[in-house]
Amino acid sequence: MAVRRLWHEQPADFAFTEANLAWARKMIGRYPEGRQASAVIPLLWKAQEQEGWVTEPAIRYVADMLSMPYIRVYEIATFYTMFQLQPVGRKAHVQVCGTTPCMLRGAGDLIAICKRRIAEHQHEVSPDGDFSWEEVECLGACVNAPMVQVFKDTYEDLTPESFEALLDSFASGNTPKPGPQNGRHYSAPLGGPIALTDPAIYGLAESKSHAASKAHGEAATREAPETPKARRQNAGRPRLSDRPEAEAARLPDGTQQPEAGAPVLDDSHKPEGLKAARDGKPDDLKRISGIGPKIEGILHSLGIFHYDQIAAWNEDNVAWIDGYLKFRGRIGREKWIEQARTLASGGETDFSKRYGKDD
Ligand code: FES
Repeated sequence: MAVRRLWHEQPADFAFTEANLAWARKMIGRYPEGRQASAVIPLLWKAQEQEGWVTEPAIRYVADMLSMPYIRVYEIATFYTMFQLQPVGRKAHVQVCGTTPCMLRGAGDLIAICKRRIAEHQHEVSPDGDFSWEEVECLGACVNAPMVQVFKDTYEDLTPESFEALLDSFASGNTPKPGPQNGRHYSAPLGGPIALTDPAIYGLAESKSHAASKAHGEAATREAPETPKARRQNAGRPRLSDRPEAEAARLPDGTQQPEAGAPVLDDSHKPEGLKAARDGKPDDLKRISGIGPKIEGILHSLGIFHYDQIAAWNEDNVAWIDGYLKFRGRIGREKWIEQARTLASGGETDFSKRYGKDD
């Protein structure tokens, strides 16, 4: 672990800009009384965004704002390598992960490029002032090794060539698209699944749609194993694997066949919906923690517009909605019903009090 100390040259003072000060106050307001110190990391980060690095006056400033001893903020700033303690390159400060998985996958080559293109030594700013670099410990993207972090973004699955291209892009003033640089999706296997692709291991015969999808070289899709409850619920319903391929995508009435095992709209467990919001005024369902604009839109399409409708859902309704949204129990975990009851009775939840005030 590198020794991290404050830079020997420090500015005389620090103050947030007006906009950053307003942001910082809002951030502090997110925490309960007596817990304001929890905002220390976002405030230090904002100070770094403003100045490019964390200065000693900024540490004092943040400590004063949060009524913390200077030493505690100093400890935090010097502990995390996300905080830069000395001036860095204007266009990019490249943090190269040098921990084992990245090193085994070529981090040494990336470091050699940094030395050649930026500066011989870590933390040294390039002659034009645009770049600097350092080696850091694992940044948590080992599955996409080797990788680097530039400011708040990570660039993964690098090769010497793609890393050079990345530096070229920063040099010309662009911010390249973060994430894997070899075209793969997050950490999914390059070229599609190569393991656990046999449907038989899930206790299922290969469906025609699965065979067709494989024949086209697409990622394999599988029906979920059917639970006894789902089997009872699905009894008598048409199934993808029961019918010829050409008809499989559509129900007899021409509507789209639901995914196998997914709740269907004519299920008796589906909560009763309204044709439209009462008086044309739906409640703002986004005031329930866990419901965003997209989920709210889906709920509207199901005729759910009001808190009292959600508050009245029974266990079966919750299970149906949970399955329909593929939530795997999120509604219960996020306590939608309790929140809806509070809001329906005119009360406020911790979340609804903050709703609209946060970024
Ligand atoms: S070892 Fe490099 S990200 Fe974990």
